[in-house]
Amino acid sequence: MGAAVRSNGIHPRDTSADAATAAVPHNDGMNDHESAGTFLVIGGSGRTGRLVVERLLARGARVTVAGRRPGNPPRGATTATVDLGRGIDPALLDGVTGVVVSVEPPADDRGAQAVMNHGVADLAAAAAKAGTKVVLVSQIYITRAHEHPSLAGIIVARAAGEEALRASGAPYAIVRPGWLTDAPAGGARLEQGDTGDGRTSRALVADATVAALFEPAASGKTFEVFDAPGAQVASWSDEFASLRRD
Ligand SMILES: NC(=O)c1ccc[n+]([C@@H]2O[C@H](COP(=O)([O-])OP(=O)(O)OC[C@H]3O[C@@H](n4cnc5c(N)ncnc54)[C@H](OP(=O)(O)O)[C@@H]3O)[C@@H](O)[C@H]2O)c1
Repeated sequence: MGAAVRSNGIHPRDTSADAATAAVPHNDGMNDHESAGTFLVIGGSGRTGRLVVERLLARGARVTVAGRRPGNPPRGATTATVDLGRGIDPALLDGVTGVVVSVEPPADDRGAQAVMNHGVADLAAAAAKAGTKVVLVSQIYITRAHEHPSLAGIIVARAAGEEALRASGAPYAIVRPGWLTDAPAGGARLEQGDTGDGRTSRALVADATVAALFEPAASGKTFEVFDAPGAQVASWSDEFASLRRD
């Protein structure tokens, strides 16, 4: 990988002001020269993606909401038109510290392959060249497609996209939520090995995704995340540190 690996787990492609201050976790007390980094959120207009965008903006990051129809972004964010099924213009990653993919796949097998396999693979290759971290929102049952035959086409495509990201050389984390809800984030249970089932609030997915962008301990790891009422996360860094690398 060409870019330097920073101790904060974010791999900036240059030494610009964005990259040099990418570890700043919150906006508190930052002056005009500080930034929490620059992020592209593909699917940032969606229900989970929007929560990711809000959290990044709250940290003082620069955020671009990307999608086929990104619409009106929250105040402070910009937009880019991106159809992940048609590949990605590498120039979109110029100066970008991290990319989140929170994209709903098409229901048909061919469309799912185009977006969740080939689209993610293209993005991962561009991110590897740019030294940009990618956090991919995936799902449970990736290794158990036979248990959900009606979702098998999507699951197989997602599994291939996950694997392409792991093999790309880009810094990454893969977040696998359970069945999504719009409940507020409560506690969390992180697992690995894709054996579990359960619900996951979109707010919790957003918390885990943003933490995975910033925390070096999440890099190179794939994990499931489920709601676990009462089990508040005291430290995402500690949660990620207890996971094994892929
Ligand atoms: N539903 C569940 O129980 C469940 C469980 C586990 C994981 N997940 C996954 O969790 C993620 C978030 O789900 P959600 O319900 O919050 O999503 P959502 O509200 O349906 O939003 C999906 C986003 O994907 C974007 N998108 C769709 N096709 C795209 C394409 N070809 N290129 C770029 N962007 C595209 C949409 O924007 P445009 O339409 O403007 O392109 C939208 O912003 C998804 O990956 C979902 O599959 C869901």
